[in-house]
Amino acid sequence: SLPVPSVQEIVRNDSLCVPERYIQERQNRPDYHSEVSYASSEIPVINMSLLANGDKDELRKFDIACKEWGFFQITNHGIAETVIHNMKDAIAAFFQLPFDEKKKYTMPANDVQGYGQGYVVSEQQKLDWSDVLFLVTLPPSVRNLKLWPVALPGFKESIDQYSTEIRKVTEEIFAKLSLLMGMDTDGLKMLHGEMKQATRMNYYPTCSRPELVLGVSPHSDASTITLLLQDDKITGLQIKHKDSWIPVKPIPDAIVVNIGDVAEVLSNGLYKSVEHRAVTNDKKARMSVATFVIPSEEVEIGPLESMVDDKQFPRMYRNMKYVDYLRHTLERKMDGKAHTEYLKLPLD
Ligand code: SIN
Ligand code: FE2
Repeated sequence: SLPVPSVQEIVRNDSLCVPERYIQERQNRPDYHSEVSYASSEIPVINMSLLANGDKDELRKFDIACKEWGFFQITNHGIAETVIHNMKDAIAAFFQLPFDEKKKYTMPANDVQGYGQGYVVSEQQKLDWSDVLFLVTLPPSVRNLKLWPVALPGFKESIDQYSTEIRKVTEEIFAKLSLLMGMDTDGLKMLHGEMKQATRMNYYPTCSRPELVLGVSPHSDASTITLLLQDDKITGLQIKHKDSWIPVKPIPDAIVVNIGDVAEVLSNGLYKSVEHRAVTNDKKARMSVATFVIPSEEVEIGPLESMVDDKQFPRMYRNMKYVDYLRHTLERKMDGKAHTEYLKLPLD
């Protein structure tokens, strides 16, 4: 990514300042309304304990959530409250460090890891109203600890515990998705090779003109699934549903899960990798932790045989090595279409 200013520093120096580079084109602004508003709808909530214990109704709910929403929140996921709270404390502690300290972890050019802002590909593009710390967390062997604030008390331990717990939840979700996609319970796990996790810690400072900026521009995730820990009170995440933006209202200690591009492609489009964005507010900074579960680089992604049927479900995507797909998504900012468009086969 190209180097960009820290938004947190911009606001600290002048809380009223909103530089031109952050002001979105009218049709992309949070206050731009299309004709229909679904603002009162809410994304499905899945009880993970029921799902994991084989409850048929919960499995049906889960299937519908993946097909129709691409997003759901999970409760009773078994992750201890302390693990969640420690993770939140760790990211708060990082962003509270003086700027000169945080700067030591700045994203190197040609890397997405580190402190800064990702997906900056040109001097002209609009910038997001957020700072991030992005780290590849699992397996431990691929960590670049030079970019980890390991001197920060409890930081590494908090990530270790949180990523281990997220991995367990991922395996439960994968087991159910595998069944629904016509595989054995360990199908997705096997297919991923050495499964990786990358974590993006987001800090959204307050903005004096929240109706003009975006915390994160619309995008789909290049992951198989993403698990998001968000603030208990402040709403910021919005998902695209039936052409409207729907806010994801926080449920304390719940985790927001979404289908990523890889799961969409594997399911031959049955499950949707939905576009989403984050908005800001003028009252309180918001933090979130997005954990991306991704396959090993050499894994070839493409529709599973079990999801293709020449008559009913013709193949929708071409195959591609995951590493090449990931490179594609990192090289461009999205323009209102999910990244999976890139793999779509022409319809005949
Ligand atoms: C993201 O999905 O990119 C971030 C969402 C959030 O902060 O809620
Ligand atoms: Fe995302």
